[in-house]
Amino acid sequence: MKRTWISNVVQSVPPSGIRRFFDLANQLPDAISLGVGEPDFVTPWHIREACIHALETGYTSYTTNQGLPELRHEIANAFHRDYSMDYDPDDEILVTTGVSEGIDLVVRSILNRGDEVIIAEPCYVSYKPTVVFAGGSPVTVAAKLEDEFRVTADRIQEKITEKTRAIMINYPNNPTGATMGKKDLEEIADVAIDHDLLIISDEIYDKLTYDGKHTCFSSLNGMKENTIVFNGFSKSHAMTGLRIGYALGNSEIISAMTKIHQYTMLCSPITSQMAAIDALRNGDVEMEKMVREYDRRRHLIISGLNKIGLDCFCGKGAFYVFPSIASTGMTSEEFAERLLLEKGVAVVPGDVFGDSGAGFLRCSYAASRADIKEALRRMEEFLASIQHTVQYNVA
Ligand SMILES: Cc1ncc(COP(=O)(O)O)c(C=O)c1O
Repeated sequence: MKRTWISNVVQSVPPSGIRRFFDLANQLPDAISLGVGEPDFVTPWHIREACIHALETGYTSYTTNQGLPELRHEIANAFHRDYSMDYDPDDEILVTTGVSEGIDLVVRSILNRGDEVIIAEPCYVSYKPTVVFAGGSPVTVAAKLEDEFRVTADRIQEKITEKTRAIMINYPNNPTGATMGKKDLEEIADVAIDHDLLIISDEIYDKLTYDGKHTCFSSLNGMKENTIVFNGFSKSHAMTGLRIGYALGNSEIISAMTKIHQYTMLCSPITSQMAAIDALRNGDVEMEKMVREYDRRRHLIISGLNKIGLDCFCGKGAFYVFPSIASTGMTSEEFAERLLLEKGVAVVPGDVFGDSGAGFLRCSYAASRADIKEALRRMEEFLASIQHTVQYNVA
């Protein structure tokens, strides 16, 4: 057998299924991408200027491990303003290199080998591998179309064992665009309290909530102490490449996360931290403009998909829709691959986000309205061509 340097744990995790589609799409120059999970906007100019100014004035050093005190204060102010939540910037907030790092830190902080984390699925592709890398076992619970892709407390309850340590949820959701109302969250909070479980709540799309108001999980009665909330700037302020996010939670867990962070990442880049301060102080107007534009595109894509015959549930947040392709009889992968190769439209097969995404596609509307319209036109042609093939084959 060929010798390998790679650990069993790393070998056990398959590469992300999204990557294959990006690689394929990159080989097709005329392809329209509804595949990407990042804003198509450039970071607002004044935020970029803050970054440039930081460099010009010599901000090129490490910062404290927890992040610049000014930034932690701005984050605390923002949470107070948005959710009437009070977090102490000294020991309840950690600035991370994106939400991705934060989630890795929390699972590494709380899991002993074999501990289980319940993960609502379909979910962001990094959750399960992150738990596995930390020595834990992901246990998935399906969010279903019949519940508008909200994960329910009953389904979570069924998956709890004596090894369960935490419940990981994300709303507004990648990949479905679903969000959770206060009542749904309260029911989950009750389960967490009854079983003494930590809630890991990824709320990176909170600002991209179009209908209704986002409820922060830790603002629910009695939940501040056993919830770690994650948020960041990648989506709300189009700052994916600046790699900056933050975690809020009780000081014991934040301090454990800071311990790992200080030995691995040390700190988030100082230029990005300066940009994030500017985003929180001056970024609302630009952010709201982007959110309004996403909302227009959301209506365009949902009505367009339904019109061409792909049933699409009306997601209320993030920048994704999750149409069903059940009517075509194809698998998600087959549909996505043929759509890309035959019509040059990149979407992501729903089962990349977990088995419960089978029979769906993730389409991102972080693309211009012109591109969305053209993608819909090509999808309609594709659907007509496969109907033709089916009839022809039958005949
Ligand atoms: C739900 C969710 N969480 C986290 C991330 C990663 O965020 P960051 O860029 O802050 O690491 C993404 C990116 O697509 C996401 O969709």
